Amino acid sequence: MNQPGTFTLRATDGQARRASLVTAHGVIETPVFMPVGTVGSVKAVSPEDLKAVGAQIILGNTYHLYLRPGDELVARMGGLHRFARWDRPILTDSGGFQVFSLSGLRKITEQGVEFQSHLDGSRHFFSPEKVVSIQKNLGSDIMMVLDECVAWGQDRDYTAKSLELTTRWARRSREAYPRGSGGQIMFGIVQGGFHEDLREESLAQLSEIDFEGFAVGGLSVGESPEEMRRQLYHIGPKLPAHKPRYLMGVGAPMDILDGIMAGIDMFDCVLPTRNARNGTLYTSQGKVNIKRAEYREDERPLDSNCNCYTCRTFSRAYLRHLYVTRELLSYRLNTIHNLAFFLDLAAGARKAIEDGRFMAFRQQYADVYGEPGK
Ligand code: GUN
Ligand code: ZN
Repeated sequence: MNQPGTFTLRATDGQARRASLVTAHGVIETPVFMPVGTVGSVKAVSPEDLKAVGAQIILGNTYHLYLRPGDELVARMGGLHRFARWDRPILTDSGGFQVFSLSGLRKITEQGVEFQSHLDGSRHFFSPEKVVSIQKNLGSDIMMVLDECVAWGQDRDYTAKSLELTTRWARRSREAYPRGSGGQIMFGIVQGGFHEDLREESLAQLSEIDFEGFAVGGLSVGESPEEMRRQLYHIGPKLPAHKPRYLMGVGAPMDILDGIMAGIDMFDCVLPTRNARNGTLYTSQGKVNIKRAEYREDERPLDSNCNCYTCRTFSRAYLRHLYVTRELLSYRLNTIHNLAFFLDLAAGARKAIEDGRFMAFRQQYADVYGEPGK
């Protein structure tokens, strides 16, 4: 079956799943890490670099691309794949998070959300239907519904009302793009804050809508690692088993491994790319701050267990030099390595699940990165 949305479980190990998801631009092998390319570019690297580190799918943001260069311009340029010369799958987030985290003044009504651009303060309105229409113009493989990402610390009443609004918006989104009406697929987003029963209620409501997949939103918004895990371990295994499950905006290596342990298939996060640009590099021996004086004359590769272009070619001393002199090449080489680390982690998890040794695989990382919250 190569109908977009077709999801095939290949193996399980506890709650962890090894699966494949068909999209219009190819099959995604899960668990998968999706590099973030907010404005249609993964910062500092090219599509060739992304392929070389094994990226299967990248993320784009509706909010950013709508503001600049505009989704209609992207459509005239043949869609985001053609515009950015990326021929593998793309997932676009709905703006449901960016409107709440980046934009100034915002007003939520039944109809949608009015917000001010973080670029020039101009006023805009996103309805669920508008956000679907933007994602149709972008031509992403996986569309996300407009949702309200509830801030950490919101009370139960607010959270309960908000999740109902998110459900009504989700229903309108699906109606604006019925299943199979084109090659794109659509995921619903479970909200419900930090109340397990509200998470279940959100899932129950969304399950009645015919989405191709489900995401967990509203995590990694300032809560403790223990609190995030409490929600994740509660709701992860309850998400429909025969559909892809996506944990939005998460996370650090141990967060991803614990997500996989909770039955999650898809992850995205700015950590590898953002940290690369601040000189924080993930290695098999732990995090390395490349600017430290101890690397000044260090001839060794950044990570002797990594096979990326950066590690095959350059010394720690040179990477430190590029960072300290603010050379532009520093951003590219560091980003290539950090993405390779996150993509290798996901690839290793896929193999470990197939071999029935996922927990031992997780433990290797926990030995280096530490048990979260400990
Ligand atoms: N990215 C991280 N968290 C969220 C969320 O709750 N909603 C959306 N749309 N995107 C996210
Ligand atoms: Zn490397």
